[in-house]
Amino acid sequence: MEIIIQPTAEAATRVAARIIARLLREKPDAVLGLATGSTPVLLYHDLTALKLDWSRVTTFNLDEYIGLDAAHPQSYHTFMWENLFQHINIARENVHIPDGNAKDIPKSCAKYEQQIKAAGGIDLQVLGIGTNGHIGFNEPTSSLASRTRIKTLTQQTLKENARFFGSEDRVPHHVITMGIGTILEARQNLLLAFGQGKARAIADAVEGPVSSLNPASVLQMHPVTQICLDEPAAGQLKRADYYRWVYDNKPDWQRV
Ligand code: F6R
Repeated sequence: MEIIIQPTAEAATRVAARIIARLLREKPDAVLGLATGSTPVLLYHDLTALKLDWSRVTTFNLDEYIGLDAAHPQSYHTFMWENLFQHINIARENVHIPDGNAKDIPKSCAKYEQQIKAAGGIDLQVLGIGTNGHIGFNEPTSSLASRTRIKTLTQQTLKENARFFGSEDRVPHHVITMGIGTILEARQNLLLAFGQGKARAIADAVEGPVSSLNPASVLQMHPVTQICLDEPAAGQLKRADYYRWVYDNKPDWQRV
């Protein structure tokens, strides 16, 4: 795990954007896994400003609410088109987001897994983290080997996502999410977390035991994971000084 601590969310986002930009320049037909929520909004803004060529890029989103129309203002379809896809030259047929309205959801989840495989697997997966350690919507105690499937949100996540819907009772209880096993197969993971509210989850994920109680901790088992944090999100890391020292002393060829 590479822990990159920056003074602000803006600076941490700029590092993440550079990592993605480098991949897209080196591999114009890269397959990206994408996240939604508050955290990556600035990232998508920065990526748009970089004017990269997305014409051959394929994307797979982590998750979607079940039962929301794709056109619903809070669907992750809407989020992705508003925050990224409408601003870049991506081909519509290269965009994949789980279908929360599929008639046969287990079948559509299996198809999603097949589509990821057929695309050659995910080169880089963007992740946020819940205050309970969830990645995608793999809530605590999710199987560490899980694949794309239906999950029920925890009451904590329902409460936290109420801010997008106006009230908790409007937040769908069920979602489709890539599994932890799916995420672990990405060749690179790039997790972003900002703000003091994420500090406990980050400390447990990075320095705690690998446990389904904090699903992000499984990234300790992944060979190429970068975690971009602002200072408040890094606030409970015991070895923060070491991570800063490593980043400041990187050889030039490793710098982004
Ligand atoms: C969203 C997702 C979630 C969020 C997490 C943090 O696609 O997979 O894991 O990344 O809930 O959400 P924010 O960024 O709103 O704090």
